[in-house]
Amino acid sequence: MNHEALDGIMHPKAIAVVGASATPGKIGYTVLDNLIKQGYTGTIYPINPSAEEILGLKCYPSILDVPGQVDAAVITIPAKLVPQGVEECGKKGVKGLIVITSGFSEVGKRELEDEIVALAHRYGMRILGPNIVGVLSNSDGMNASFAPYLPLPGKATLVSQSGALLIAIDAATYTRGVGFDKMFSIGNMSDLDFADIIEWLNDDPNTSCITLYIEGFKNGRSFMDVCRRATKPIIGLKAGVSAHGAAAAASHTGSLAGAAKVYGAALQQAGVVQASDLDNLFDRTLALSLQPPMNGDNLLIITNGGGVGVLATDSAERYGLPLKFAPPEVQAELKKHMPDFGSAKNPVDLTGMAGNEWYHDAVKYAYAHNWVDGLTILYCETAVTNPMEIAQSIKAAIDESGVNGKPVSVSFVGGERSEKAMAWLVEHGLPAYGAPDRAVNAMAALREYARMKAIASESITPCGDEGRAIAMKVIEHARLDGRDSLTEIEAKQVFSAYGLPVTRTKLATSEDEAVKLAQEIGYPVVMKIVSPEILHKSDAGGVKVNIKDEASVREAFRTIMANAKDYNAEAHIHGIAVQEMAPWGTEVILGSVNDPTFGPTMMFGLGGIFVEVLKDVTFRVAPVSSSQALRMLGEIRGAPILAGVRGESPRDRAAMAETICAYSTMILDLADEISESDANPVLVYAEGKGVKVVDARIILKKK
Ligand code: COA
Repeated sequence: MNHEALDGIMHPKAIAVVGASATPGKIGYTVLDNLIKQGYTGTIYPINPSAEEILGLKCYPSILDVPGQVDAAVITIPAKLVPQGVEECGKKGVKGLIVITSGFSEVGKRELEDEIVALAHRYGMRILGPNIVGVLSNSDGMNASFAPYLPLPGKATLVSQSGALLIAIDAATYTRGVGFDKMFSIGNMSDLDFADIIEWLNDDPNTSCITLYIEGFKNGRSFMDVCRRATKPIIGLKAGVSAHGAAAAASHTGSLAGAAKVYGAALQQAGVVQASDLDNLFDRTLALSLQPPMNGDNLLIITNGGGVGVLATDSAERYGLPLKFAPPEVQAELKKHMPDFGSAKNPVDLTGMAGNEWYHDAVKYAYAHNWVDGLTILYCETAVTNPMEIAQSIKAAIDESGVNGKPVSVSFVGGERSEKAMAWLVEHGLPAYGAPDRAVNAMAALREYARMKAIASESITPCGDEGRAIAMKVIEHARLDGRDSLTEIEAKQVFSAYGLPVTRTKLATSEDEAVKLAQEIGYPVVMKIVSPEILHKSDAGGVKVNIKDEASVREAFRTIMANAKDYNAEAHIHGIAVQEMAPWGTEVILGSVNDPTFGPTMMFGLGGIFVEVLKDVTFRVAPVSSSQALRMLGEIRGAPILAGVRGESPRDRAAMAETICAYSTMILDLADEISESDANPVLVYAEGKGVKVVDARIILKKK
């Protein structure tokens, strides 16, 4: 992306306020006042047709009357006047517009919004907004917004889709002690969106962590691409994860793919650390803006209190960083910095007797040791220690260790003196929290960031794509038939075109033909009704399994036909599928939805009760590499079943991963055709024995 417009908006040498007002309380007054009083050193031009001077500055009737160059303009005139204002800014050669005005697409006036974007583009300008609070930057001393003040200075930058929340977070930076350099309100994202701003912030020397409040994306895939390329940590809080089209889903997968799951998968694939709520957003932002990523799983906890140590141990497990004992030589060395009754395991308990020196020496040694990937230091305020001195000892130990690039988090539990000591620690670059759980969670964020970055940078080699021609023939045939779903046989043809291992299945239109096919396929066979109107075949009495001889084939044929007619007399019956009866294996489900934001998205889970009742499934936006697919297999709760439990041999996870990879290629390649799909069940056999797709369903996009 060309950075010129955002450079113009964020580092303007001259800025105009179109709609500046002399009336206190008006937004056009507040923005001008903020620019003048909060440190902006460039030139400010108030624009208002009926004022000579506002807040001591010469006022111009139109931006076209301004004598010098103007880089950015803040627009605070009513919506219907904005197009003319934008046009005049364009003629003046302004680079970027901050459109605070509301009354566009958020109230259904999409055309007005499109009009101002088209006008801006005609003059090579970009728009931030409309419907925003504005932008704030400590390093530029610029409050081009109607938020009351610049945030507490720091290294994070906030990009918020909600203006009101931005103002609230701005104020809370002071009470929570979490500093920000910049804040962007992006409102309707008519033009500049998350992706543009993240790309720009990645090159901003004053931003070390990008913090997002997300309601939705216009283009989920471009967001993911930009985040994957970013070299700075990005943390996101996604709001609005409860209601999302699941009700209308026609497939099993569709009904399980809520926004929370798909967004969660997409953010993870993009390498974006997630926050669970606003408190967590602050805590994690603090850690990510001050500390490097945690590049291994070995977290060491040092404490002076057993209680907080146990609490932190529980948290570490909860957040995916279970503690391990440090190696014997580390324990032996740490033993020197505690009384006999201390513990050098993990957590390292220096005991309530621990003073400045023990903290200093234990931290200095542990932090420098190769085994330690991250250090969390806990302290309970005691009568025999001074929290500020403990804080200073910790900081000195870290500095003296001679080690860089390893994360630390701290928790002091106590009163006012502990609060002050923690504020001092934060000022000196060490994230500190009032509860051990929060300090461990912050460390987990640094670990998640490192893990996800490694995954996000993996290149994805899609597996095979020759199947398209075959698949399209099947799909076109169904469309000519006036259908928007494929029969099981057709769906299996499409699956198999993309290399998915489906059970051999053939269509019989008569009893004799069924017998012939059963002999060809080999007994035992399964027989299933094939009718576009009967999707739930078992419910209709349309499935018979384990058919072992000719007489049984004939009987099954007649029963299934009769049952289907009873179930739905109007149904078009194509015939009966005769298929190979796959031997027993572990049942899993694969499926896809075409998510409105992220496009083709995969689901994987264990089948049967696991999917029906426990909804133990996991998602990924396609394409999915084989190594990502292996991670999917590992992250469901039922993962041990695939790994082999209770004497069962491990299942063929490699073949399963390849199948997921092929499936993801299929849904991406046929993104314009497939709306939802399921392979359910898929049977997974013992290692080396592969997998078999037993049933298949494809719902087409309506055209
Ligand atoms: N060029 C420059 N100034 C102009 C103008 C023009 N073409 N046309 C009018 N103005 C002046 C007005 O005369 C007025 O100045 P005055 O106080 O000296 O009379 C000033 O611009 C503002 O116009 P006004 O009609 O008084 O509007 P307003 O201040 O009541 O409201 C907005 C303007 C933009 C603030 C309002 O329409 C709005 O959108 N508010 C919501 C903003 C918001 O909440 N954003 C999102 C947050 S999440």
